[in-house]
Amino acid sequence: AAQAALQSAVQMAPDSWMPGGRPDPLIRERHGYTGRPVSRVDGAVKVRGVAPYAAEFPLDRLTYAALVFSTVAKGRIATLGTAAAEAAPGVVLVMTHRNAPRMQPMPLFMTSEKACGGNDLPIMQDDRIYWNGEPVALVLAETQAQADHAASLIRVDYVAEASVTDFGEAKAHGTEPGQFMGQPLKYGSGDAEAALAAAPHRVDARYTTPRHSHNAIELHAVTVAWQGETLRVHDASQMVAHMAWSLGHVFGLAEDQVHVTSPFVGGGFGGKGLWQHQVLAAAAAKLAGRPVRLMLSREGVYRIVGGRTVTEQRVAIGAQADGGFDALVHTGTVAMSHHNVLPEPFILPTRSAYASKTMKLDVEVAYLDMVANTFMRAPGEAVGTFALESAIDELAVAMDMDPIELRMRNEPDTDPTTGAPFSSREVEKAYRDGAARFGWAQRGTPGSRREGEWLIGTGVATATYPYYRMPGGAARITLTRHGHVTVDIAAHDMGMGTATAQSQVIADRLGVSMEQVTFRYGDSSLPGTVMAGGSQQTAAIGAAVVAAHRALVTELLKLAGNDSPLAGLDGDAVGGRDGGLARLDDPTRHESYASILARAQRDTVVVEASAPMPLETMHWSMHSHGAMFCEVRVNAVTGEVRVSRFLGSFDCGRILNPKTAASQFRGGIIMGLGLALMEETQYDERSGRIMNPSLAEYHVPVHMDVPAIEVMWTDVPDPHTPMGARGVGEIGITGVGAAVANAVFNATGKRIRDLPITLDKLL
Ligand code: MOS
Repeated sequence: AAQAALQSAVQMAPDSWMPGGRPDPLIRERHGYTGRPVSRVDGAVKVRGVAPYAAEFPLDRLTYAALVFSTVAKGRIATLGTAAAEAAPGVVLVMTHRNAPRMQPMPLFMTSEKACGGNDLPIMQDDRIYWNGEPVALVLAETQAQADHAASLIRVDYVAEASVTDFGEAKAHGTEPGQFMGQPLKYGSGDAEAALAAAPHRVDARYTTPRHSHNAIELHAVTVAWQGETLRVHDASQMVAHMAWSLGHVFGLAEDQVHVTSPFVGGGFGGKGLWQHQVLAAAAAKLAGRPVRLMLSREGVYRIVGGRTVTEQRVAIGAQADGGFDALVHTGTVAMSHHNVLPEPFILPTRSAYASKTMKLDVEVAYLDMVANTFMRAPGEAVGTFALESAIDELAVAMDMDPIELRMRNEPDTDPTTGAPFSSREVEKAYRDGAARFGWAQRGTPGSRREGEWLIGTGVATATYPYYRMPGGAARITLTRHGHVTVDIAAHDMGMGTATAQSQVIADRLGVSMEQVTFRYGDSSLPGTVMAGGSQQTAAIGAAVVAAHRALVTELLKLAGNDSPLAGLDGDAVGGRDGGLARLDDPTRHESYASILARAQRDTVVVEASAPMPLETMHWSMHSHGAMFCEVRVNAVTGEVRVSRFLGSFDCGRILNPKTAASQFRGGIIMGLGLALMEETQYDERSGRIMNPSLAEYHVPVHMDVPAIEVMWTDVPDPHTPMGARGVGEIGITGVGAAVANAVFNATGKRIRDLPITLDKLL
């Protein structure tokens, strides 16, 4: 079956994964490593505790930083008492707006190619306060305990000014259309409201999702040192090249005067970009003339990093008796600060999910004086699929139709909003295979399955996340006479297995063993500007490696010359095999890398190339999908919800490494269980302050909350992506909220439209 799928993928793409390119041999051939469950190449150093994280670099004369956060949402600092802190034991420096160096605001995320600031506010430049929790003072001391103690001695009084911290008040002031990546979050086709009103079957419901805060296991941390005019930064980052450029902008330095490394990261999820703590650490290091380590406290992450914003969504669907949609409406409002760029784009999944005769999609923004909200795993899709996929379930119940059948009747032939053909879309297969494995057919009606106090139900929802590939990919390949291959690229491994999966593909591409491959990443001085975000890093690296490999083959053929069995061959006619190059249609015409380099009297060959522009997304509608199946047990006495089974059936193109991909899927689903059942930032609408900034009061799933999660996939290669793969990082969280809510309905007959589904809502 896999072979047949590969064949059909090739036929669909006679010429390329990319307009104007040539076929990627990895689409057509199965090699030794690609698709195998290889264990993580960085696993051993992590398990042994010798992998250095950002807060673990022991620099000479290191100082430790602690921050003081504002307690009003807007206003001015009236008095700032720092004398006691300055006199406290071990204190090296107290930095406030009175002595901080002059700095530019951070360049705001997505406003230019390498900009990655989470907000664009002045950083400790004057006495103004912009949000409740903003850093107002930084203490440097000889130890962390001394810094924390001295910070507690700082006294700040404020003159508060009128602020908008209440979502209702913000909406009353009027909303503005949301924008995402330069595009309005608005789409219309036909008169959807009229079609809805005329439809024989309809649902029209309102759903809400709360604020969520970032809680990567590794706290945001940075260790910085000024070396002359160069700034050396050990960061926990999902975007080292962006960091170097953006920090350079803040301090008036060229990007090559800022060297950012981030070899190990304990989770990112969209939160590990540039925030004020890295800037403040660098400023304090400059002022003190000593290196600085700043690791945010857990509270500090809540105060200055922010997270996913609150949404209120309406989904209305009008359908004919056969289930076909006449109208699909998905609109609503999100909260956002004036100083960031992410209006939680909850309509993104709805753009391409279903065919409908008419459609209306719209995200409106209400502005609050609050910590900047930001990207958080599948921004848009994670909460948008909760509303959309809950509404589909509600319609299926209203029409007494199987919810999978209802979805299949609305599978689009081409992209519903752009008309573009899908690059690859195996939604039906994901559902069919998932339903068989899960035992969907055994499903009952609400309230019909009960074991003692426990009501049992099942639910399903579609998961979806787009394929992206951002520009800026570049890679350098160094090949030695001994056949060792080093690939350098400013990319990231935050725990998802980047280095492992890419080493597999590189080994296959060059025809060497994995032991002969070194993948170097997490260093801004390496080629490329590749963000580990948008689930696009694998494709971005893959495209850069394909380009660099082509340059390598060209160079090797030149070096091979007329005495080689490869003489006269064109780069398109050869590929890597058995430690050398071979003719694709006649592998006996082969010469080893060692032989080519020896004859040319070379020890190494070094090539560097940039990835082609990501034109594939202009030609095709490119999305991954999944079918999420959930079984819950709801206690009829206490309202407690326990997820007892979960299956994710995914269609994400070729799976490069089933072991690391399965972990990505499971991790996303676990985060989705948190979104469904417990995660909620308690935000005080009166003061704009986050009231539960700790893992004791902000609940995420623990092992006891997570059942065995089964994952499976179609493994149908996408003919229009560099390696046949689409991303696997974010799709896992999508659809989970609705799958759980739909299962809760099937168990209890109660429809919960407001996340999280806590027990009080079920009693
Ligand atoms: Mo992700 S929210 O693009 O790290």
